[in-house]
Amino acid sequence: MQPETAMQYETAQILAAIQAGDTPAEEFAHLKLPDSYRAVTVHADEAEMFDGLASRDKDPRRSLHVEDVATPELGPGEAIVAVMASAINYNSVWTSIFEPVSTFSFLRRYGKVSELTRRHDLPYHVIGSDLAGVVLRTGPGVNKWKPGDEVVAHCLSVELEDAEGHDDTMLDPQQRIWGFETNFGGLAHLALVKTNQLMPKPAHLTWEEAASPGLVNSTAYRQLVSKNGAAMKQGDVVLIWGASGGLGSYATQMALNGGAIPVCVVSSPDKAQICRSMGAELIIDRAAEGYRFWKNAEEQDPKEWQRFGSKIRELTGGEDPDIVFEHPGRETFGASVYVAKRGGQIVTCASTSGFQHSYDNRYLWMNLKRIIGSHFANYREAWEANRLIDKGMIHPTLSKSYPLEQTGQAAYDVHRNLHQGKVGVLCLAPREGLGVRDAAKRDRLLPAINRFRNV
Ligand SMILES: NC(=O)c1ccc[n+]([C@@H]2O[C@H](COP(=O)([O-])OP(=O)(O)OC[C@H]3O[C@@H](n4cnc5c(N)ncnc54)[C@H](OP(=O)(O)O)[C@@H]3O)[C@@H](O)[C@H]2O)c1
Repeated sequence: MQPETAMQYETAQILAAIQAGDTPAEEFAHLKLPDSYRAVTVHADEAEMFDGLASRDKDPRRSLHVEDVATPELGPGEAIVAVMASAINYNSVWTSIFEPVSTFSFLRRYGKVSELTRRHDLPYHVIGSDLAGVVLRTGPGVNKWKPGDEVVAHCLSVELEDAEGHDDTMLDPQQRIWGFETNFGGLAHLALVKTNQLMPKPAHLTWEEAASPGLVNSTAYRQLVSKNGAAMKQGDVVLIWGASGGLGSYATQMALNGGAIPVCVVSSPDKAQICRSMGAELIIDRAAEGYRFWKNAEEQDPKEWQRFGSKIRELTGGEDPDIVFEHPGRETFGASVYVAKRGGQIVTCASTSGFQHSYDNRYLWMNLKRIIGSHFANYREAWEANRLIDKGMIHPTLSKSYPLEQTGQAAYDVHRNLHQGKVGVLCLAPREGLGVRDAAKRDRLLPAINRFRNV
């Protein structure tokens, strides 16, 4: 298609430079940045559009728009990145259904931090917390990255002006998730990031494969592996909810990789098969088992917790989980606390089915169990998680990719749990399969990279 506008022409020039594969840094630095770019947005004046509907019936295809927005001004320590591909995370689902709160409240708060952050407080929100692409411009004070660098971005945005964030950047009082609590996210042709979000793109992966692990892989790393989370060790029994889903598919690989014993919970034979293909042997199909942890909206059923615990022991030869990898929340949390081993850990990063958890505290204190809260990952943890991908020790779990224009459908699939692993989004990349720079390494790892395809 011939470019019709200046924006389309300039975007085409950027894409051609990336596709060439050997464009020098100076040329990237001289490419004109378009004044506007294509992006997936939600609108502030639509934040009430789903009022009165059940969560399940709130349809991201209605609230997500694909439109041209103004290119933001570049600040110190920042970069503008040409986004080749991005991915759907559950946070984009939350944004699209305006739950638990509209993300415009985050943008308003961020806009008050400084003169520069005021850029983020707009009547539209460019969403998305993953990307793979190429650096086009860097702001003042950036030395480590330059135009032309092929990168992925993790989604931790910090200011680090307070002392609290300097041991663990996740503890920075100004910690935010880029593309969720900040504007100019990754589901777009361009993105604005802080350069301490950037990491090298693994050379053996396509753009869409490289974009897909970021948020969930880093989160699973901190939650399960890092000393800030469960500090998993060899031989640990790890109960993993949603083991073929976004977070769970990485947690399962990390458990196997680290010599632990994953017990994978899924909801269909296809998902069980995916877990087997990753190398897991102990799998529970929660749908086939028909667990009913709640008798009604108020009361849980300890007999069902016991039945679940017995199934775990049957698979493990009588052992209880050292670690429970929690994220479904309200529906499963009582069971998770019950089945964890004496002295074990329940490490949680989410509450997909409801954030008011209840559990029988006697099982926690009498058995000396611990509940640990975990949220995303600091730069070091995200870097380590990306390094595992680069080394071919952990693999992307991409099952399907959509073009940018169909991001609403992609988010709908994740919202309705119709997907496997990760769902990708092609941004500037005109088709799947582009961006591989190390074909020999890819050939070696291909069966593992393709495990989630066409399931
Ligand atoms: N704090 C953080 O930094 C962070 C980071 C990433 C994600 N999250 C949150 O973590 C949650 C999961 O994210 P994700 O990317 O893994 O999503 P996902 O791709 O949808 O996978 C979650 C899986 O959990 C299982 N599940 C869903 N509801 C369940 C229920 N009621 N009972 C038991 N299992 C259930 C489903 O697997 P089966 O149907 O096969 O059982 C589903 O595939 C979301 O709420 C997300 O916002 C938080």
